[in-house]
Amino acid sequence: MSLSDKTAIVTGAGSARGIGRATAHALAAAGWHIAVLDVNEASAKDAADEIAGRRGVRSFGIGCDVTDETAVGAALDVLGGSAPPVGALVNNAGVTSPTRFLDVTGEEWDRIFAVNVRGAYNITRQVAPTMAERGFGRIVFLSSVSAERGGGVFGGVAYSAAKAAQLGFARALARELGPHGVTVNSVAPGLIDTDITGGALDGERKEELLAGIPVGRNGTVADVADLITYLCREESGYITGATYDVNGGSHIH
Ligand SMILES: NC(=O)c1ccc[n+]([C@@H]2O[C@H](COP(=O)([O-])OP(=O)(O)OC[C@H]3O[C@@H](n4cnc5c(N)ncnc54)[C@H](O)[C@@H]3O)[C@@H](O)[C@H]2O)c1
Repeated sequence: MSLSDKTAIVTGAGSARGIGRATAHALAAAGWHIAVLDVNEASAKDAADEIAGRRGVRSFGIGCDVTDETAVGAALDVLGGSAPPVGALVNNAGVTSPTRFLDVTGEEWDRIFAVNVRGAYNITRQVAPTMAERGFGRIVFLSSVSAERGGGVFGGVAYSAAKAAQLGFARALARELGPHGVTVNSVAPGLIDTDITGGALDGERKEELLAGIPVGRNGTVADVADLITYLCREESGYITGATYDVNGGSHIH
């Protein structure tokens, strides 16, 4: 089974400085064809064009809100008609919020869970059956150090709870899909330099956080992309149900 005839879907890979786009590039460099699904259609198409241009693989950019089960189905139909079979899924689309628990509303809570948890459900539920039938699949969730240490970086209680839900999701799914050749793992990044905080994490707070990182720097998107690509290799088939920290030692447990 070769990667050269397989597509890796990366959700939320539109963001130009994001973990998803870097992951899509790294997977393409490893030989995967790429499908970028992002709520921002223009950015999804831009990412797909950039990847095809630089890496010489087939690449598809589709506007898709992962919280909408029907839209996810439609995006997968487009791929089903034109892309090589889906061999990997990276559940990267995510939103965060620093709102304190004593200020959070039910609406905001639901929005954070809708993208991070229900969004991952919507696509994984539709992709997993075919992976299991074919006997090969790699699924990776983007959790967060916030799930492990109880926030304290940027995201508040809603974000930490949603990212922790992803860990349970991935572990239970790993157990169920293991017999079918499908691995399911999570990565838990610490502070990675992207636009997810919308510039809201600057100045003194950023300095404070840096002081608590043994390797002395923020993470880069490449740090995370490389690990995800490793987990998606065929040779990584004995790694499943695991959570990998990429946090510069900011949380050691
Ligand atoms: N940056 C960090 O420090 C950090 C740390 C730990 C975990 N993470 C997680 O890594 C993932 C990527 O984060 P990032 O920092 O690259 O963020 P980012 O904001 O740069 O990218 C997120 C992408 O998700 C897309 N998206 C948002 N809602 C969507 C939806 N409903 N449907 C489809 N796409 C949607 C956005 O358009 C964007 O392209 C997220 O799940 C995040 O929670 C990030």
